Amino acid sequence: MRFPSDEGELEVLENIDLDLYPREFACLIGPSGSGKSTLLRILADVLEPTSGTITIRNGAPFTRAIVFQSYNLLPWNTVIQNIALPLLIRKVDKAEALRQAGEWVEKVGLSGFENEWPKNLSGGMAQRVAIARALIQKPKLLLLDEPFGALDALTREQMSLELMATWESVQTTVLMVTHSISEAVLLSDRILVFQDRPGKIVEQLRIPFERPRTGQLRDTPEFTRTTRQLRELIEQVKNGTGDTR
Ligand SMILES: Nc1ncnc2c1ncn2[C@@H]1O[C@H](COP(=O)(O)OP(=O)(O)OP(=O)(O)O)[C@@H](O)[C@H]1O
Ligand SMILES: [Mg+2]
Repeated sequence: MRFPSDEGELEVLENIDLDLYPREFACLIGPSGSGKSTLLRILADVLEPTSGTITIRNGAPFTRAIVFQSYNLLPWNTVIQNIALPLLIRKVDKAEALRQAGEWVEKVGLSGFENEWPKNLSGGMAQRVAIARALIQKPKLLLLDEPFGALDALTREQMSLELMATWESVQTTVLMVTHSISEAVLLSDRILVFQDRPGKIVEQLRIPFERPRTGQLRDTPEFTRTTRQLRELIEQVKNGTGDTR
């Protein structure tokens, strides 16, 4: 992916070669400005790559939903209207769209807030709305761009456990950008380590812990060992001693 800039073209992504598998939870971790959001926007089909292709091997109709770094809720729509929006855009009957949205309000723990305006929500609640609005589309691929980046540490931990539980019930493929090593290890089947200038995937780490997982996993020695391994891998990449495929 190249963007035009004042000094000619800016190469943001180079040789991205990535396979995502059905029902896999993958995390993307890497420096700020390395092109992670750009890659997600390409995968979400909201940005056309300069070159290269994305192949979908099975499962037509293939739906993908993205939760952007900023929540992007419509301020003039209530919680339930925001969640129902993707269905209304697809011309689903309004009563049916609101019925499904009502179910999602419950699933993401927002009961009682369905008629609230986005400006009256906390960051965690707004993020729940954004995730529900993505999942109501039953996407085969869910792209999450630092979904918990703006939340305090405790809310963030709680939200990531909630996301994991929701994901285990919907079983969609997830690619999530995060800057948190422990969040990535807790949630992922696979972690992709990104390098910058230009952005590329230089390392992968498989996370073998069994599912379903709970928050207690974080208190185990295996978890500590895996987070250390990931931290070392990221350090190697940063110092240029990593594998630069
Ligand atoms: N539409 C655009 N036009 C020009 N340059 C862009 C555009 N979108 C992104 N860029 C540039 O591409 C690079 C990568 O940006 P991107 O937002 O993908 O990074 P990121 O890895 O998501 O960073 P962060 O972790 O801070 O969110 C940056 O240098 C950014 O300025
Ligand atoms: Mg980003």
